Amino acid sequence: MLPSAPAILKSTSQALSRAARPLLIPRARALGLAAPELVQTDNLPKYNAAKLAGRPFLPGSDTKGFPATLNPIRVDFPAVFHPKAPADADKLPLEEWGAMVREIVDRELSKTGVLLFRGLPIRTREDYARLFDGTGLAPRDYVGHAGRREQLDTNVYSSNDDPLEFTIDIHTELSFMPAPPQKVMFCCIKSPGEHGGGETPVTDMRGVMRDMDPSLVERVRTRQIRYVRNIADKSRSSWNWQSNMHSEDREEVERFLTGKGFSYRWNADDSLSYWFSTDGLSEHPGSGETYWFNQLTEHNGSCFKVHPEFMNETKHISEFPRHTSYGDGEEFSEEDLAHVREVQWKNSYGFHWRQGDVLVMDNFMVGHGRMGCNPGVKERKIIASITKN
Ligand SMILES: [Fe+2]
Repeated sequence: MLPSAPAILKSTSQALSRAARPLLIPRARALGLAAPELVQTDNLPKYNAAKLAGRPFLPGSDTKGFPATLNPIRVDFPAVFHPKAPADADKLPLEEWGAMVREIVDRELSKTGVLLFRGLPIRTREDYARLFDGTGLAPRDYVGHAGRREQLDTNVYSSNDDPLEFTIDIHTELSFMPAPPQKVMFCCIKSPGEHGGGETPVTDMRGVMRDMDPSLVERVRTRQIRYVRNIADKSRSSWNWQSNMHSEDREEVERFLTGKGFSYRWNADDSLSYWFSTDGLSEHPGSGETYWFNQLTEHNGSCFKVHPEFMNETKHISEFPRHTSYGDGEEFSEEDLAHVREVQWKNSYGFHWRQGDVLVMDNFMVGHGRMGCNPGVKERKIIASITKN
């Protein structure tokens, strides 16, 4: 009896270079065997739409005009791919699946900006790290990020360590940094289930540009956005500058900030404040299209007014760990914040995570956030990578 095509691949693939793999697939086909393949499906999974308007711990959800629920994903947003022979998916090394994911990313991602790979044999972060290696994408680090996350592996991070019930506002990743990531990848290791919430909404940024008030777009274009960080010392908070900067050395942190052209101040309680202004719009590095590319609402101090750990603090929104204003320091009006949030959520789509799902996004074309988990959910494990290419 002939071994199956995936078995042939498994026995030889460790020694194969990526360039040699395409030769093996025609050989498997010549033997009449099913070659491993990722195929697109238009059979979209059912979605129990998450509540948005009036949702607790969701910044801005109490404003008039906030969308009632999150849209279900539509065909091609994201385009969904799965192994053609799911029962054999385990027989192919994850590096090989990663190479196939890369081929589809190179071919498809520029069309809609987001792809979902489902049914891959990923159960652990080590499995995902192997798949990521197989893509050949160049990882970018998270130094200078302003959220809470943990480095789990060389190129793998926890997606965010905020309290599970909190909803993270829509944003594009590290869009305030020089050389922002080109792609963002998420992988589901532990799903909160179909009734647990915790979706990763994906946002059509072309739709956002279409629906945004042109006068606000113009104000952001001409006045830029100032990002402010007020980050505690590790002796006072798990959310601290040492983990954000990946360093315990003040001089090293100062060199980093100065090198980026940021202003900074060490405060009496050993916390670090720093700030800088940057563009809130960006041209896509490939297509040249202009995108709303910022973290204007997600990093605005107003988010902390509904954050479980900060909502009882009475300080001004500019004193919370993150804040945004116009580049000249003037605050965004409540109307502007409400408008941006409404437009972003109106253009966002959700699906229920399943273990092994891999989501790949073009970081300019597609924004993302995180729905809070529903009461009773104890675990949601989504891991992340960001890339330079
Ligand atoms: Fe993010």
